[in-house]
Amino acid sequence: MKKEQYRIVRNKRIAPGTFELVLEGNGNVDGEFVHIAIPGFYLRRPLSICDKGPGSLTIVYKVVGKGTKVLSEMTEGTVLEILTGLGRGFDPDACRGEALLVGGGLGVPPLYLLAKELKARGKKVTAVLGFNKAEELILVPQFESICDAVTVSTVDGSVGVKGFVTDAIAGMDRSYDYFYTCGPMVMMKAVCRMVECPGEASLEERMGCGAGFCYGCSIETKNGPRRVCKDGPVFKKEELSW
Ligand SMILES: Cc1cc2nc3c(=O)[nH]c(=O)nc-3n(C[C@H](O)[C@H](O)[C@H](O)COP(=O)(O)OP(=O)(O)OC[C@H]3O[C@@H](n4cnc5c(N)ncnc54)[C@H](O)[C@@H]3O)c2cc1C
Ligand code: FES
Repeated sequence: MKKEQYRIVRNKRIAPGTFELVLEGNGNVDGEFVHIAIPGFYLRRPLSICDKGPGSLTIVYKVVGKGTKVLSEMTEGTVLEILTGLGRGFDPDACRGEALLVGGGLGVPPLYLLAKELKARGKKVTAVLGFNKAEELILVPQFESICDAVTVSTVDGSVGVKGFVTDAIAGMDRSYDYFYTCGPMVMMKAVCRMVECPGEASLEERMGCGAGFCYGCSIETKNGPRRVCKDGPVFKKEELSW
């Protein structure tokens, strides 16, 4: 874990209540998520890494409460103190052939970096991205530019398959070697039940330290209690008690 200073290069609204935050700092960021200090708040906010490059980091976040509201009002040039090197992420090497990525809402961003990592390893990648309605779509062109196939579902049917990601998967006539999912808990549970191949899911839990010390983010798994921040947030399907 490292405490670092990152400067805001862009903090742009990309959908209602949803922002793309591009940060610039020193070196390369490791880990699955960063823990951002927001002035005026005691607890840091955990946000997933959507994309990264040498000295740069992209996060896509939704305004859900006071902390993310303050973050959304921050302007270019503001310096943020962030903890990096946190979390055990998706394992792109676990997929031997064809990968299925299933994201819902704000669970879509962390799958973007994974899609790039899978393509860099020569894997075939299909993404199923679920949203409530057309206005909430995020990152679809970016996924289309790197994946072999992308299917969008919307609950109201305004774009793509009408219904949930599971409706889109049900209509797909293929099998996959491995799946990766991130999104609402209820969606990930349904995906884990429906998709027969092995896979991984990225969980969300309220966090204190974010680095494995306080045990505030513990969940029960088939292998006993595990900390989402340190042992996860990504867990293998067979470890999860659902
Ligand atoms: C590993 C991880 C990765 C995440 N990645 C993203 C992401 O890429 N994009 C995104 O939009 N959101 C992401 N979240 C959720 C994000 O952390 C919360 O939406 C955010 O902390 C809410 O802060 P707030 O002050 O606006 O809300 P408030 O409700 O005011 O927050 C109060 C407290 O609850 C915590 N909290 C509230 N909602 C959540 C939540 N869903 N998960 C964990 N803690 C929560 C806050 O961190 C804070 O400590 C992630 C959560 C985790 C655990
Ligand atoms: S938040 Fe402290 S151990 Fe996970």
